[in-house]
Amino acid sequence: MAKTYLNRLTGQPTDRTPAWLMRQAGRYLPEYRALRAEAGGFWDLVYNPAFATEVTLQPIRRFDLDAAIIFADILVVPHALGQEIVFTKGEGPSLTPLRSFDDLKALNPAKLMHKAAPVCETVAKVKAGLPDHVTLIGFAGAPWTVAAYMLEGHGSKDFLEAKTVAYQNPDMMAALIDMLVSATATYVLAQIKAGAEVIQIFDSWAGVLNEQDFKNWVIKPTRQLVKLIREQAPDVPIVGFPRGAGTYYQDYVEATKVTAVQVDTTMAMSHAQKLAGIVPVQGWMDPAALVTGGATLDKAVDQLKEGMNGLPWIFNLGHGVVPQTPPEHVEQLLTRLRA
Ligand code: CP3
Repeated sequence: MAKTYLNRLTGQPTDRTPAWLMRQAGRYLPEYRALRAEAGGFWDLVYNPAFATEVTLQPIRRFDLDAAIIFADILVVPHALGQEIVFTKGEGPSLTPLRSFDDLKALNPAKLMHKAAPVCETVAKVKAGLPDHVTLIGFAGAPWTVAAYMLEGHGSKDFLEAKTVAYQNPDMMAALIDMLVSATATYVLAQIKAGAEVIQIFDSWAGVLNEQDFKNWVIKPTRQLVKLIREQAPDVPIVGFPRGAGTYYQDYVEATKVTAVQVDTTMAMSHAQKLAGIVPVQGWMDPAALVTGGATLDKAVDQLKEGMNGLPWIFNLGHGVVPQTPPEHVEQLLTRLRA
């Protein structure tokens, strides 16, 4: 069987609409929860290639998906640069926030690939155990989103603290973003060398920025990152996800030169159709429809299927699978999509 996802991204004919789900490995699967408990902490899972390989393959064994995404986190880069990050149960990540140039200078890019090496080992192990038709996706956070966590210290609805630090100390923000562009390129290229066939760049907090900041902190660094990756790996498709970018999606696609774009739950069909005239579009069913199941789920799948019929489209959610999702609903979704 051909690699449907890779073929769709590179404009080759495919026999079905490729499908995978952001956060397809995770807490909604009992087998994930069991391994997570065995590993202890979240980092113990991420940096253990045997565990991380197993978690990556869990959804592939259960469901007929077209891609596997390596089990890691967007916070591996700041963690490997030396920032202290802990995951507390139910509360998400907690970082010791950067507050000064000295905090920034204490990070060490020379250590990055030493600490992140287990992730690349996972890539190679997964590749060896993956069915031929399933494409292997590597990923990283985009510079802005990672910088936002590094400055804020935790998740936030508006990243006010991160934005304020950046406004007060623009030189520090520029230096942080530059460091992240370079570190992220190194990290992603190492994943490609280990066997990743596609790269997705998650800019989960692109949607909290005004037009000028979106240009400076989302578009500009992402364009640089894409360029650095392409210099070494010209044939590897790069999928950009500027979540919440709204009316800036088209600028993002055109200016960053990503191969394809992942769009979020709020995307309008007419806008997605327009984007699909420029690049392949991936997305964007509401994760809540996957939780709900039944006729709601069928209808949500049908709407996307009808609207994107004949266009270069990859099925995905508009954001990650949530822990409340009954695993059987993933089965229902794939059956409906391929009916
Ligand atoms: O299956 C996959 O998608 C691969 C693995 C993956 C994880 N995180 C594992 C994870 C991927 C691609 C990510 C990306 C990620 N991580 C993003 C971008 C996508 C998005 O959701 O916007 C962000 C912002 C993060 C940072 C992060 N990691 C947060 C905010 C949290 C806590 C919230 C949550 O969902 O628990 C994490 C933890 C995390 N990353 C978990 C998983 C499976 C849960 C950890 C646990 O077992 O407790």
